[in-house]
Amino acid sequence: MTFDFDRFPDATLAAIPRVDLGGWPTPLHAAPRLGDALGLPSLLLKRDDVHPLGAGGNKLRKLEYHLGAAREAGADTVITFGALQTNHGRQTAAACAKLGLRCELVLTAKVPRDGEAYERSGNIPLDKLFGATVHVGTDDADTTRIYDRLIADAAAEGRTTATVPIGGSNALGALGYLRAIRELAGQLAERGIDHAQLVIPHASGGTAAGTTLAAGQLGNLEVNIVCVSHPTDDARANLHELHTSAATLLGVGTTPPRFSMTDATLGPGYGIPTDAVWHALRLFGRTEGVVLDPVYTGKVAAALVDWKHNLDIDPNEPVVFLHTGGMPGLYGYTPELTTAVNRDTPR
Ligand SMILES: Cc1ncc(COP(=O)(O)O)c(C=O)c1O
Repeated sequence: MTFDFDRFPDATLAAIPRVDLGGWPTPLHAAPRLGDALGLPSLLLKRDDVHPLGAGGNKLRKLEYHLGAAREAGADTVITFGALQTNHGRQTAAACAKLGLRCELVLTAKVPRDGEAYERSGNIPLDKLFGATVHVGTDDADTTRIYDRLIADAAAEGRTTATVPIGGSNALGALGYLRAIRELAGQLAERGIDHAQLVIPHASGGTAAGTTLAAGQLGNLEVNIVCVSHPTDDARANLHELHTSAATLLGVGTTPPRFSMTDATLGPGYGIPTDAVWHALRLFGRTEGVVLDPVYTGKVAAALVDWKHNLDIDPNEPVVFLHTGGMPGLYGYTPELTTAVNRDTPR
């Protein structure tokens, strides 16, 4: 049996407003040297980091729906949120540049990190390069004040705003990953693969929710989720809510999502890389020439590296690691990156 493409709600999905940001499908390729190192003979990388717009990443898929809705509503100004080194903010800025929309990024300094690299480099100059205005709030209350002011200013100037939630994660954003997994299943089928195990992140949850929803429709995909922001209890609750609301939006049954989940590589918390993360970055780099980031993909990769302890996968089956992007954020961690690459012995 192969993927159940007939059951997939292509027509319903096609009727939901969406802007095409181009660049699809993203590549799927084998990673044999990394697979050898990990004892996973059929390891594949789905490269959502490879995209012509704004240095790529998973948010572009969600933004196609958010900006489709914004366009339908006649919005000329897009407001969204994130941490200082938000990849979502950078991709929103790039997508708005492409579509000629004004972009306001309301960032909060919530990761316990400072210094020139984290506060001024990485994603932040790219946000500005793509023409966004960056506002930094000191805490959640300050962020809310900034947001309220932006809404009031837009109203006074006769502009129409669209607000995209943090990480682009709500029912609408999750649809981006429903499409992504449909795309991936097509690529797997072309290779004669009819069953695969996916390894994906959970932070704001839209990627995971779209993936579980697509896997429920297509069958034959096992979803392994690695928490990079919240511990498993919180992540599970968030995923159930997003999965159900996306299923409702799409008009498909709200069967509970099937997945396994771990927070084994979360470490001290969101945005704080561990030695295992830097080790995973070095391993991907020196076996495949692939760059990860220390906040998201590095934590998922750390779980993959120690898959025997962390993941519920059969090593003889195809394993697909979803690369969700984030490379610009690596430069926000330049001091630690420099130390990691100069360590004498790769672990
Ligand atoms: C590079 C990267 N990977 C993974 C994620 C997590 O995706 P989600 O927020 O949909 O859980 C993010 C979100 O910020 C990201 O920027």
